Amino acid sequence: MYPPFPTSRPRRLRAHPLLRDLVRETELNVADLILPLFVRPGRGIRREISSMPGNYQLSVDTLIEEVGAALSLGLRYFILFGIPESKDETGSSALREDGIIQQALRELRHTFGQEILLMTDECFCEYTSHGHCGILHQRRGSWDVDNDATLAILVEQCISHARAGADIVAPSGMMDGMVAAIRRGLDEAGFAHVAILSYAVKYASAFYGPFREAAESPPQFGDRSTYQMDPANRNEALKEAALDVNEGADLLMVKPALAYLDIIRQVKDRFGLPVAAYNVSGEYAMVKAAAAQGWLDERRVTLEILTSIRRAGADMILTYHARDVARWLKQG
Ligand code: PBG
Repeated sequence: MYPPFPTSRPRRLRAHPLLRDLVRETELNVADLILPLFVRPGRGIRREISSMPGNYQLSVDTLIEEVGAALSLGLRYFILFGIPESKDETGSSALREDGIIQQALRELRHTFGQEILLMTDECFCEYTSHGHCGILHQRRGSWDVDNDATLAILVEQCISHARAGADIVAPSGMMDGMVAAIRRGLDEAGFAHVAILSYAVKYASAFYGPFREAAESPPQFGDRSTYQMDPANRNEALKEAALDVNEGADLLMVKPALAYLDIIRQVKDRFGLPVAAYNVSGEYAMVKAAAAQGWLDERRVTLEILTSIRRAGADMILTYHARDVARWLKQG
């Protein structure tokens, strides 16, 4: 009989639902979620993205409706991606005062005031005819993104978005020195209060596949591996994050999320800044496709994935599941 066996009984704390609630370590709240939205020119447009069911390309008027509906579910944070009227070599439509994102920001701000927080993706791949994230130059016989020339227009893009009402700018092009350049540019232009959410650790990932359909932004040749990171690297992620912290980033992003939970944890532990994780288009598409086949329980799997991203250390999650999750959390 003695000594008693087993000596430790962790099941004691799992025996009752209330007890499980009491000892739960990680919570997922609607206030942790950021909804990505795609906006394009026109009126009355609501075009479903086939590989991302439940997500749409919207015109400014339907975007207003969409945000209104999201707001009634408790969602307050939005990040905007633009599909412009026209594309060229340098992505010049990104900088227009009447550009698609600038219009969307002004209308959203006009309609919803301070009830919502608006973030903007700062990059050129949606605006360039070649689909790369900046201005190209030729080096050693092949085309590549010109880092410093791209920084100059990136700063202009951020200032233009700040002027139109962005609360947070989120540079996603993985250019060296982008955070320092943007911080200086915003401060000089009178936008010292606008925060920078840096896509500090962004991998060259195949999980972005559906997004490129959504944003109509696939590279027309080559890939993004001269600027986005190699999925095999961890030390490099810490170096990228450290640089952005030193350059003045207010928040750090790791992207994608699910295959990079180790990176999220390390970035959180090392720097202590708020960390965002981007639960990207391909992660969303996998769940939706399996759920449509009846192979997975969509609600349980989605909540498990997002809770795991929070458990890994993410303070906030950019996710296309945001509306569904907000609904489920409301139902309890
Ligand atoms: C670049 C950008 C991309 C995503 C967000 N910002 C695409 C890329 O880097 O090719 C991907 C997001 C997703 O897959 O959900 N502007």
